[in-house]
Amino acid sequence: MNPLEQFNEDRQRARETQDPYANLCAFATVDDAGAPQVRTLVLRDVEQRLAVFVNATSPKWQEVANPAVLVFLASLNIQYRLRCTTEAVPDPIVRDSWQLRPETPKRMDWFYFRHGQSSAIASRERLLEEFATLAPPEPLVAPESAKGLFLVPIVIERLDLNQPEGVHDRRRWVRGDGEWVETVLVP
Ligand SMILES: Cc1cc2nc3c(=O)[nH]c(=O)nc-3n(C[C@H](O)[C@H](O)[C@H](O)COP(=O)(O)O)c2cc1C
Repeated sequence: MNPLEQFNEDRQRARETQDPYANLCAFATVDDAGAPQVRTLVLRDVEQRLAVFVNATSPKWQEVANPAVLVFLASLNIQYRLRCTTEAVPDPIVRDSWQLRPETPKRMDWFYFRHGQSSAIASRERLLEEFATLAPPEPLVAPESAKGLFLVPIVIERLDLNQPEGVHDRRRWVRGDGEWVETVLVP
C-alpha cells in the first residue's frame, strides 16, 4: 500500500475514535546553533495534502525546510515518523483558512508584529496589557507573517505495536523516482 494512503487511513481511523492526537504532530527542526527543536503543531489536510500553519516571526520559520515530523496515534498504538521537505501553501489558501481561526489567535498573529513569536517579554501582565491595546486592522485579515507549509514526505516510517505475537511491525518507505520503496526494520 502507498504509505501516505495508509497514513491518511490510520489518521481517519484515529479521528473516528476521537483520538486527540489524530490532528496533531510533533514538528522537529534544527536551529542555527545545530540544536534540535521540537514543538506540537496542528497537522492539517489542505487540498488533500499534509500542511502546517505557522507564524514567520518565530525563529522556527528559518528552520522549516527539512523537518522531521512525528505522529503518535495513541488510540491505535501506531507511531509514524516522517522526514519531509516543505513547499509554501499559496497565500490565498492561507488567508481563507486563517479566517476560520478563533478571534484571540487571529489577534495574536497581529501582536507578533510588536513582539515576535517566542521572543521574551517583561511579564505576563505586560503581555496582557499590550495585547488589550492592540489595534489590528478592521476587518481582521491575515497578516503577511501567517504562513502555511505543505509537508512533502520523503521517508515514512510506521511502527505498529498491535501484533498477535507481540513483535512489533516496523516498516520504512523511501520515495524513489515517484514510487515508494519499502524496507522492513527490526523494531
Ligand atoms: C495542541 C497544540 C497545537 C498547536 N498548534 C500550533 C500550530 O498549528 N501552529 C503553531 O505555530 N503553533 C502551534 N502550537 C504552539 C507550538 O507548539 C509552539 O509553542 C509555538 O509555535 C512556538 O514555537 P517556537 O518556539 O518554535 O517558535 C500548538 C501547541 C499545542 C499544545
